[in-house]
Amino acid sequence: MKLIQTTSELRNELQAVRKQGKSIGLVPTMGALHDGHASLVKRAVKENDVVVVSDFVNPTQFNDKNDLLKYPRTLEADCALLEKHGAAFVFAPSVEEIYPEPDTRQFSYAPLDTVMEGKYRPGHFNGVCQIVSKLFLIVEPDRAYFGEKDFQQLAIIREMVRKYPFNLQIIGCPIVREADGLALSSRNARLSEEQRVQALQISKTLFSSLDFAKEHTLTETKQYVENCIAGAEGLQLEYFEVVDGNSLQPVADWDDSNYIVGCITVFCGDVRLIDNIKYKE
Ligand code: PAF
Repeated sequence: MKLIQTTSELRNELQAVRKQGKSIGLVPTMGALHDGHASLVKRAVKENDVVVVSDFVNPTQFNDKNDLLKYPRTLEADCALLEKHGAAFVFAPSVEEIYPEPDTRQFSYAPLDTVMEGKYRPGHFNGVCQIVSKLFLIVEPDRAYFGEKDFQQLAIIREMVRKYPFNLQIIGCPIVREADGLALSSRNARLSEEQRVQALQISKTLFSSLDFAKEHTLTETKQYVENCIAGAEGLQLEYFEVVDGNSLQPVADWDDSNYIVGCITVFCGDVRLIDNIKYKE
Protein backbone atom coordinates (compact mmCIF):
# COMPACT_ATOMS: atom_id res chain seq x y z
CA MET A 1 0.00 0.00 0.00
CA LYS A 2 1.24 3.46 -0.89
CA LEU A 3 0.57 6.67 1.02
CA ILE A 4 0.27 9.56 -1.44
CA GLN A 5 0.00 13.24 -0.65
CA THR A 6 -0.10 14.96 -4.02
CA THR A 7 -2.63 14.91 -6.81
CA SER A 8 0.05 14.60 -9.49
CA GLU A 9 1.59 11.50 -7.90
CA LEU A 10 -1.80 9.85 -7.51
CA ARG A 11 -2.72 10.67 -11.12
CA ASN A 12 0.55 9.10 -12.36
CA GLU A 13 0.00 5.94 -10.36
CA LEU A 14 -3.58 5.59 -11.55
CA GLN A 15 -2.67 6.24 -15.17
CA ALA A 16 -0.43 3.17 -15.02
CA VAL A 17 -3.25 1.17 -13.39
CA ARG A 18 -5.72 2.18 -16.10
CA LYS A 19 -3.22 1.32 -18.86
CA GLN A 20 -3.24 -2.24 -17.55
CA GLY A 21 -7.03 -2.29 -18.02
CA LYS A 22 -7.63 -2.51 -14.28
CA SER A 23 -10.73 -1.15 -12.55
CA ILE A 24 -10.48 1.46 -9.79
CA GLY A 25 -12.65 1.74 -6.69
CA LEU A 26 -12.69 4.87 -4.53
CA VAL A 27 -13.64 5.10 -0.87
CA PRO A 28 -13.79 8.76 0.19
CA THR A 29 -13.28 9.26 3.93
CA MET A 30 -12.28 11.91 6.43
CA GLY A 31 -10.11 9.43 8.30
CA ALA A 32 -10.56 8.35 11.93
CA LEU A 33 -11.47 5.05 10.35
CA HIS A 34 -13.60 2.40 12.03
CA ASP A 35 -15.30 -0.86 11.06
CA GLY A 36 -17.92 1.05 9.08
CA HIS A 37 -15.18 2.35 6.76
CA ALA A 38 -13.56 -1.10 6.77
CA SER A 39 -16.80 -2.57 5.39
CA LEU A 40 -16.70 -0.05 2.50
CA VAL A 41 -13.07 -0.87 1.77
CA LYS A 42 -13.69 -4.62 1.91
CA ARG A 43 -16.55 -4.31 -0.58
CA ALA A 44 -14.46 -2.03 -2.83
CA VAL A 45 -11.56 -4.51 -2.77
CA LYS A 46 -13.94 -7.32 -3.74
CA GLU A 47 -15.40 -5.39 -6.68
CA ASN A 48 -12.34 -3.57 -8.10
CA ASP A 49 -8.76 -4.40 -9.09
CA VAL A 50 -7.30 -1.39 -7.28
CA VAL A 51 -8.75 0.58 -4.37
CA VAL A 52 -7.96 4.18 -3.47
CA VAL A 53 -9.03 5.49 -0.06
CA SER A 54 -8.95 9.24 0.45
CA ASP A 55 -8.22 10.38 4.00
CA PHE A 56 -8.91 14.09 4.13
CA VAL A 57 -10.76 16.21 6.67
CA ASN A 58 -12.50 18.53 4.23
CA PRO A 59 -12.75 22.02 5.73
CA THR A 60 -15.38 23.30 3.28
CA GLN A 61 -18.08 20.96 4.58
CA PHE A 62 -17.79 22.14 8.21
CA ASN A 63 -20.09 25.02 9.05
CA ASP A 64 -18.92 24.85 12.67
CA LYS A 65 -15.23 25.75 13.16
CA ASN A 66 -15.14 23.94 16.51
CA ASP A 67 -16.38 20.73 14.94
CA LEU A 68 -13.58 20.98 12.34
CA LEU A 69 -10.94 21.60 15.02
CA LYS A 70 -12.14 18.69 17.15
CA TYR A 71 -12.51 16.24 14.28
CA PRO A 72 -10.28 13.25 15.14
CA ARG A 73 -7.15 12.80 12.98
CA THR A 74 -5.52 9.36 13.11
CA LEU A 75 -3.64 8.86 9.83
CA GLU A 76 -1.18 6.28 11.18
CA ALA A 77 -3.88 4.01 12.59
CA ASP A 78 -5.96 4.58 9.42
CA CYS A 79 -3.08 3.36 7.25
CA ALA A 80 -2.70 0.21 9.36
CA LEU A 81 -6.40 -0.59 8.95
CA LEU A 82 -6.34 0.12 5.20
CA GLU A 83 -3.25 -2.00 4.61
CA LYS A 84 -4.94 -4.87 6.44
CA HIS A 85 -8.02 -4.62 4.24
CA GLY A 86 -6.17 -4.46 0.94
CA ALA A 87 -6.33 -0.82 -0.19
CA ALA A 88 -3.65 -0.06 -2.78
CA PHE A 89 -3.39 3.71 -2.24
CA VAL A 90 -4.19 6.07 0.62
CA PHE A 91 -4.59 9.63 -0.62
CA ALA A 92 -3.97 12.04 2.28
CA PRO A 93 -3.41 15.47 0.74
CA SER A 94 -2.96 18.78 2.56
CA VAL A 95 -5.71 21.39 2.48
CA GLU A 96 -3.49 23.53 0.18
CA GLU A 97 -3.10 20.62 -2.24
CA ILE A 98 -6.86 20.26 -2.63
CA TYR A 99 -7.76 23.94 -2.36
CA PRO A 100 -4.81 25.96 -3.74
CA GLU A 101 -7.42 28.69 -4.10
CA PRO A 102 -10.90 28.96 -2.59
CA ASP A 103 -13.40 26.67 -4.28
CA THR A 104 -16.19 28.98 -5.43
CA ARG A 105 -18.22 26.31 -7.18
CA GLN A 106 -21.83 26.12 -6.00
CA PHE A 107 -23.72 22.84 -5.98
CA SER A 108 -27.42 23.03 -5.47
CA TYR A 109 -29.68 20.01 -5.55
CA ALA A 110 -32.90 21.37 -4.08
CA PRO A 111 -35.06 20.03 -2.64
CA LEU A 112 -32.69 17.18 -1.66
CA ASP A 113 -30.21 19.51 0.03
CA THR A 114 -32.59 22.00 1.62
CA VAL A 115 -34.10 19.64 4.21
CA MET A 116 -32.66 17.97 7.33
CA GLU A 117 -28.83 18.33 7.35
CA GLY A 118 -29.16 20.96 4.62
CA LYS A 119 -31.42 23.04 6.87
CA TYR A 120 -29.34 22.70 10.03
CA ARG A 121 -25.87 22.77 8.42
CA PRO A 122 -26.06 25.44 5.70
CA GLY A 123 -23.29 24.98 3.14
CA HIS A 124 -22.45 21.48 4.35
CA PHE A 125 -23.54 19.64 1.22
CA ASN A 126 -21.98 22.26 -1.02
CA GLY A 127 -18.66 21.43 0.69
CA VAL A 128 -19.27 17.70 0.39
CA CYS A 129 -19.96 18.07 -3.35
CA GLN A 130 -16.85 20.24 -3.76
CA ILE A 131 -14.53 17.61 -2.32
CA VAL A 132 -16.29 14.55 -3.71
CA SER A 133 -16.39 16.03 -7.24
CA LYS A 134 -12.67 16.88 -6.97
CA LEU A 135 -11.92 13.32 -5.87
CA PHE A 136 -13.96 11.94 -8.77
CA LEU A 137 -12.05 14.18 -11.21
CA ILE A 138 -8.65 13.23 -9.76
CA VAL A 139 -9.22 9.49 -9.31
CA GLU A 140 -11.70 8.82 -12.16
CA PRO A 141 -12.94 5.72 -10.37
CA ASP A 142 -15.20 3.07 -11.87
CA ARG A 143 -17.05 2.82 -8.58
CA ALA A 144 -17.24 4.92 -5.40
CA TYR A 145 -18.47 3.68 -2.03
CA PHE A 146 -20.48 5.59 0.58
CA GLY A 147 -22.20 4.53 3.79
CA GLU A 148 -25.97 4.70 4.21
CA LYS A 149 -25.50 6.23 7.66
CA ASP A 150 -25.13 9.54 5.82
CA PHE A 151 -28.37 8.82 4.01
CA GLN A 152 -28.93 12.35 2.71
CA GLN A 153 -25.31 12.69 1.57
CA LEU A 154 -25.64 9.50 -0.46
CA ALA A 155 -28.83 10.76 -2.18
CA ILE A 156 -27.17 14.09 -3.02
CA ILE A 157 -24.01 12.45 -4.37
CA ARG A 158 -26.15 10.20 -6.58
CA GLU A 159 -27.90 13.33 -7.87
CA MET A 160 -24.57 15.12 -8.47
CA VAL A 161 -23.28 12.14 -10.46
CA ARG A 162 -26.49 12.08 -12.53
CA LYS A 163 -26.44 15.83 -13.22
CA TYR A 164 -22.72 16.57 -13.58
CA PRO A 165 -22.48 13.97 -15.23
CA PHE A 166 -19.79 11.66 -13.93
CA ASN A 167 -19.23 8.26 -15.47
CA LEU A 168 -19.06 6.01 -12.41
CA GLN A 169 -21.23 3.83 -10.26
CA ILE A 170 -22.18 4.94 -6.75
CA ILE A 171 -22.46 2.06 -4.30
CA GLY A 172 -24.38 2.63 -1.07
CA CYS A 173 -23.38 0.31 1.79
CA PRO A 174 -25.46 -0.59 4.88
CA ILE A 175 -24.90 1.07 8.27
CA VAL A 176 -22.45 -0.84 10.47
CA ARG A 177 -23.39 -0.93 14.16
CA GLU A 178 -21.71 -1.88 17.41
CA ALA A 179 -23.03 -5.14 18.90
CA ASP A 180 -25.38 -3.07 21.09
CA GLY A 181 -26.77 -1.11 18.12
CA LEU A 182 -24.91 2.22 18.19
CA ALA A 183 -24.17 3.28 14.61
CA LEU A 184 -20.42 3.48 14.03
CA SER A 185 -19.17 7.03 13.57
CA SER A 186 -15.80 8.73 13.78
CA ARG A 187 -17.48 11.12 16.21
CA ASN A 188 -18.16 8.27 18.69
CA ALA A 189 -14.49 8.58 19.68
CA ARG A 190 -15.39 11.92 21.30
CA LEU A 191 -18.04 10.42 23.60
CA SER A 192 -17.19 9.92 27.27
CA GLU A 193 -18.07 6.55 28.80
CA GLU A 194 -21.25 8.02 30.23
CA GLN A 195 -22.19 9.64 26.93
CA ARG A 196 -21.53 6.38 25.09
CA VAL A 197 -24.26 4.78 27.24
CA GLN A 198 -26.59 7.74 26.69
CA ALA A 199 -26.03 7.71 22.92
CA LEU A 200 -27.26 4.12 22.78
CA GLN A 201 -30.81 5.41 23.28
CA ILE A 202 -30.72 6.77 19.71
CA SER A 203 -30.53 3.38 17.96
CA LYS A 204 -32.68 1.73 20.66
CA THR A 205 -35.42 4.28 20.00
CA LEU A 206 -35.19 3.85 16.23
CA PHE A 207 -35.38 0.06 16.50
CA SER A 208 -38.29 0.12 18.95
CA SER A 209 -40.08 2.58 16.64
CA LEU A 210 -40.08 -0.12 13.95
CA ASP A 211 -42.41 -2.22 16.13
CA PHE A 212 -44.38 0.84 17.23
CA ALA A 213 -44.92 1.79 13.58
CA LYS A 214 -46.68 -1.51 12.86
CA GLU A 215 -49.62 -0.49 15.05
CA HIS A 216 -49.53 3.30 14.78
CA THR A 217 -49.81 6.13 12.30
CA LEU A 218 -46.76 7.87 10.92
CA THR A 219 -47.54 10.99 12.97
CA GLU A 220 -47.82 8.91 16.15
CA THR A 221 -44.55 7.13 15.36
CA LYS A 222 -42.77 10.44 14.79
CA GLN A 223 -44.11 11.68 18.12
CA TYR A 224 -43.01 8.43 19.80
CA VAL A 225 -39.41 8.90 18.65
CA GLU A 226 -39.39 12.58 19.63
CA ASN A 227 -40.78 11.75 23.09
CA CYS A 228 -38.27 8.92 23.67
CA ILE A 229 -35.32 11.19 22.85
CA ALA A 230 -36.77 14.09 24.86
CA GLY A 231 -37.00 11.74 27.87
CA ALA A 232 -33.49 10.31 27.43
CA GLU A 233 -30.79 11.69 29.70
CA GLY A 234 -27.98 13.61 28.04
CA LEU A 235 -29.61 13.73 24.59
CA GLN A 236 -30.93 16.75 22.72
CA LEU A 237 -32.93 16.12 19.56
CA GLU A 238 -32.11 18.37 16.62
CA TYR A 239 -34.59 16.76 14.23
CA PHE A 240 -36.34 13.53 13.41
CA GLU A 241 -37.86 13.45 9.92
CA VAL A 242 -39.75 10.64 8.27
CA VAL A 243 -39.10 11.03 4.55
CA ASP A 244 -39.48 9.43 1.17
CA GLY A 245 -36.19 7.58 0.62
CA ASN A 246 -35.74 9.00 -2.88
CA SER A 247 -37.02 12.58 -2.72
CA LEU A 248 -36.09 13.06 0.99
CA GLN A 249 -39.32 15.04 1.39
CA PRO A 250 -41.40 14.42 4.53
CA VAL A 251 -44.25 11.95 4.19
CA ALA A 252 -47.44 12.20 6.22
CA ASP A 253 -48.83 8.69 5.91
CA TRP A 254 -47.35 5.19 5.65
CA ASP A 255 -49.23 4.78 2.34
CA ASP A 256 -47.62 7.88 0.79
CA SER A 257 -44.52 6.00 -0.41
CA ASN A 258 -43.10 2.50 -0.64
CA TYR A 259 -39.67 3.70 0.48
CA ILE A 260 -39.82 5.43 3.88
CA VAL A 261 -36.84 6.31 6.05
CA GLY A 262 -36.61 7.97 9.46
CA CYS A 263 -33.59 10.27 9.76
CA ILE A 264 -32.46 11.55 13.12
CA THR A 265 -29.85 13.95 14.45
CA VAL A 266 -29.16 14.16 18.16
CA PHE A 267 -26.63 16.02 20.26
CA CYS A 268 -24.99 14.01 23.01
CA GLY A 269 -23.19 16.78 24.90
CA ASP A 270 -21.52 18.67 22.08
CA VAL A 271 -21.16 15.59 19.88
CA ARG A 272 -23.58 15.61 16.98
CA LEU A 273 -24.70 12.10 16.01
CA ILE A 274 -26.84 10.99 13.08
CA ASP A 275 -28.62 7.72 12.38
CA ASN A 276 -31.51 6.43 10.29
CA ILE A 277 -33.92 3.54 9.98
CA LYS A 278 -35.89 2.14 7.05
CA TYR A 279 -39.62 1.74 7.77
CA LYS A 280 -40.45 0.65 4.21
CA GLU A 281 -38.28 -0.31 1.25
O1 PAF B 1 -18.88 10.97 4.66
C1 PAF B 1 -17.76 11.53 4.81
O2 PAF B 1 -16.91 11.07 5.57
C2 PAF B 1 -17.47 12.81 4.06
O3 PAF B 1 -18.59 13.61 3.97
C3 PAF B 1 -16.86 12.56 2.67
C4 PAF B 1 -17.84 11.86 1.74
C5 PAF B 1 -15.59 11.73 2.80
C6 PAF B 1 -16.48 13.90 2.03
O4 PAF B 1 -15.54 14.59 2.78
